[in-house]
Amino acid sequence: AKEPIRVLVTGAAGQIAYSLLFSVAKGDVFGPDQPVILHLLDIPPMMGVLEGVVMELMDCAFSLVREIIPTCDEQQAFNDIEAAFLVGAMPRKEGMERKDLLAANVKIFKSQGKALDQFAKKTVKVLVVGNPANTNAFICSKYAPSIPKENFSAMTRLDQNRAQSQIAFRLNVPANNVTNVIIWGNHSSTQFPDASHALVNVNGTIKKVGDCLNDDAYLKGEFITTVQKRGAAVIAARKLSSAMSAAKAACDHMRDWWNGTTEGQFVSMAVYSDGSYNVPADVMYSFPVQIGADRQWKIVQGLEINDFARQKMDLTGQELKQEKEDALSVCQD
Ligand code: NAI
Repeated sequence: AKEPIRVLVTGAAGQIAYSLLFSVAKGDVFGPDQPVILHLLDIPPMMGVLEGVVMELMDCAFSLVREIIPTCDEQQAFNDIEAAFLVGAMPRKEGMERKDLLAANVKIFKSQGKALDQFAKKTVKVLVVGNPANTNAFICSKYAPSIPKENFSAMTRLDQNRAQSQIAFRLNVPANNVTNVIIWGNHSSTQFPDASHALVNVNGTIKKVGDCLNDDAYLKGEFITTVQKRGAAVIAARKLSSAMSAAKAACDHMRDWWNGTTEGQFVSMAVYSDGSYNVPADVMYSFPVQIGADRQWKIVQGLEINDFARQKMDLTGQELKQEKEDALSVCQD
């Protein structure tokens, strides 16, 4: 039998965590034979709510869950963890300036970066979900110098899943039949959802999505804006931000990182940029990646980038550079 692994979820009393914990505890991410010790971090005022979440987790009688540790203490939360879902972040409140929001999050992710550096396993895989996810992941990594930069990532998988699903519904095929849709850049409205390399399985034959849809205007227009604005559309309808789908995406992201991607397929993750495709280096930029059994991601190289894509990839890259500079300017040290 496998030894249990310690998995941290922050923002554990929040909405995304409520769905995420269910899937992690069930074995959807680390496998049906991998026991887990769940570390649940939230802030002191949420400890009562978190107690309720712990009760429900117990009441699910998941056999993979060996221990549950609810806490508001970072040392306890980050101690010996092998995987971290950093979901908790400061939400934007009415009248709050962008700069204030950024400063509040820099503070959180600086502190959590230091805690990772001191207490986590050096092989820990970190997925930042809390917004602004890319820049939060950058700050977190900056303050955890003893952990390889490659171990930090931010989530654009929800955007990828949204894009994949839009195309699958349009082509009337199951979502899984659509692969290799790419999200480039920032998890924000400047992201570039790119279907130009996407494939679709139609009755067992692999075809290019572009050839099947045969609607360039859609792929360069409505498709992109629908995905870019989907988060806002869900908020407008639900009066709450995406939670079930965000949790599903976080599971997909970590599962593929842990187990590797399928041969010939790629997935999008915001990772430490080496300047591939001439986008800015030294920011957390979402790229198509492939992951092997060694749990190391590699940016897919050699994809053809046309002028339309170039412009969109640069725009979102510029935004990330600016966000990073703004974040660094409130870092102090
Ligand atoms: P929520 O407000 O329901 O829950 C957030 C939880 O985080 C709260 O319980 C809060 O007390 C906690 N928290 C705040 N500061 C913390 C800290 N320093 N340490 C530990 N916990 C802390 O929010 P929800 O809906 O669960 O969303 C969480 C985050 O995920 C938000 O920042 C949201 O913008 C982001 N998000 C990102 C997506 C992506 O695709 N990357 C998609 C959807 C949401």
